[in-house]
Amino acid sequence: MPTYSPIDINDDVLKFLNDRRSPLAKLMDGAGPTAQQVDEIIHRAARVPDHRKLGPWRFIVIRGEERAVLGQYIGTRFKALNPDLPLDRSVFESQRLMRAPTVVAVVSSPVDCVRGTPEWEQVLSSGAVCFQMLLVARAMGFAAQWLSEWIAYDEVITGRLGLSEREKISGFIYLGDSTQPLAPRDRPDVNARITRLGD
Ligand SMILES: Cc1cc2nc3c(=O)[nH]c(=O)nc-3n(C[C@H](O)[C@H](O)[C@H](O)COP(=O)(O)O)c2cc1C
Repeated sequence: MPTYSPIDINDDVLKFLNDRRSPLAKLMDGAGPTAQQVDEIIHRAARVPDHRKLGPWRFIVIRGEERAVLGQYIGTRFKALNPDLPLDRSVFESQRLMRAPTVVAVVSSPVDCVRGTPEWEQVLSSGAVCFQMLLVARAMGFAAQWLSEWIAYDEVITGRLGLSEREKISGFIYLGDSTQPLAPRDRPDVNARITRLGD
């Protein structure tokens, strides 16, 4: 059984965290992780804090032809919602999932907890899964971007994905390869957001 003991300061890990950025899904290329590697990414991503071990999240892995099949559905839905927009817009929408070889939908799937883990905490745990997935994918040499876009909020599409009324998409994690240069991103002023109590 692993013990929790102090480890040496790991400058490589700190640099990895300091420099963290998301490559753009639309610029991904290559085969990305294999099905086996996607499983490994998911298992590592699921090692997040989870109050009372409820596992209030689940994963839908979309790969290969299924991206196009689902994409067609998305394009048709977009056309139904926007009948006056030109056809090339729905074609564009039908291509969304094709930007990366693997798209993992992380689903927030809260459960009733008689001992009282608030639903809010269960939702937060699902967000943590998404972020951990970005870190794990990067550590395994892959590119990952966390996107929602309108498809995460459309009930017809989430129904097609098999979500219940209570479930929500926490994010679509696009996984692939990338060699795009990543410039630093302006960040919010963190100091302005810290309240210090005590020393
Ligand atoms: C919940 C969530 C949903 C997001 N959805 C989108 C999105 O739909 N479109 C988009 O361009 N960026 C979206 N982002 C932002 C990107 O994931 C990412 O933060 C941004 O591209 C740059 O971030 P970086 O700091 O990881 O480089 C979302 C982020 C979060 C946390």
